[in-house]
Amino acid sequence: MNFPLFKFGSRDLAIDLGTANTVVYLRDRGIVIQEPSVVAIEYGNGLPKVRAVGDDAKLMLGKTPANLRTIRPLRNGVIADLQVAEQMIKHFMTKALGGRGRFGNKTEVVICVPSGSTSVERRAIRDAASSAGASEVRLIEEPMAAAIGAGLPVADPIGSMVVDIGGGTTEVGVISLQGLAYSQSDRVGGDKMDEAIMSYVRRTHNLQIGEATAERIKKQIGVARAPLSGCGETVVVKGLHVEKGVPREIQLSQAEIARALAEPVARVVHVVREALEHTEPEIAADIIDAGITMTGGGSLLQDIDGVLADETGLPVRVADNPLQCVALGAGMTLEDPVYRGALQPA
Ligand SMILES: Nc1ncnc2c1ncn2[C@@H]1O[C@H](COP(=O)(O)OP(=O)(O)OP(=O)(O)O)[C@@H](O)[C@H]1O
Ligand SMILES: [Mg+2]
Repeated sequence: MNFPLFKFGSRDLAIDLGTANTVVYLRDRGIVIQEPSVVAIEYGNGLPKVRAVGDDAKLMLGKTPANLRTIRPLRNGVIADLQVAEQMIKHFMTKALGGRGRFGNKTEVVICVPSGSTSVERRAIRDAASSAGASEVRLIEEPMAAAIGAGLPVADPIGSMVVDIGGGTTEVGVISLQGLAYSQSDRVGGDKMDEAIMSYVRRTHNLQIGEATAERIKKQIGVARAPLSGCGETVVVKGLHVEKGVPREIQLSQAEIARALAEPVARVVHVVREALEHTEPEIAADIIDAGITMTGGGSLLQDIDGVLADETGLPVRVADNPLQCVALGAGMTLEDPVYRGALQPA
């Protein structure tokens, strides 16, 4: 018999601690938080203090006064600043539980880790969640969580391929029978794309722009390859003239952005190709039928699915809710025993 009231107030969480975004799933409720992985720290007299986390902190990126710094505690998919990451996890866990902060005797937390992360990095993530109040921490590899969240048949003896392009990493997972038959990752993703746009604009237009502006341009009109005809859409970009040091604006076209993004896009294609080369023939046969499923914010880059389809000769689809797939998949392991086997051994 099912007593829904018993489930009310569950405190088990699944956290996709991403380089760009943290997404939190509360058992029996679904996604309750989706915010940038950014923390603003104030350095005054005494100990540094957290001033803002998530959405509020991201608004301050690149615009902080001298005594305030915005920090992204994760880089390349792993924790770069453990203390700040801990504070961030704690903040989001408390917020996900409605500010109750009563982690009490049992709050199971499932956290996603990149498949390529080392045991030291995994320990750091585990410790951060424990000291933030989790009584039990389980890890799940990101491509596995992404595949579950994208609705792939991970528990069946059918091979599937998922490509997750995040802010810091691109991860390719080949999955069958709840296991990663093969995984491959490269530290290329949305951040590298933003950097590529910044350096292109500086090189060819003598204009200095910040990370936030580069990301905005990418989301607005970014494309993975040049439009078939003409220069495509254009956008007005404001920045600082490199030599004159004065504010200036220029027009940037989609054709130019495609040129700027050529290198990171080629790296994404390369990781996928490499994974395909290492895939067992039986599984490869399944992938030929089922194709490749893309997740992560980077899969929203216009025409990246088209580029991958052309470069691999396989059908490619972008999952529904690509920004939430990993957290959804991790959350499903809390609710459905079928997926427990996808968790890393405790
Ligand atoms: N429409 C869009 N076009 C291109 N890129 C986008 C779009 N929307 C979001 N992104 C990019 O997706 C990235 C964030 O994706 P996501 O939240 O999946 O990353 P993450 O999980 O935080 O990172 P990682 O998995 O590497 O740790 C950012 O770099 C963001 O700029
Ligand atoms: Mg991610």
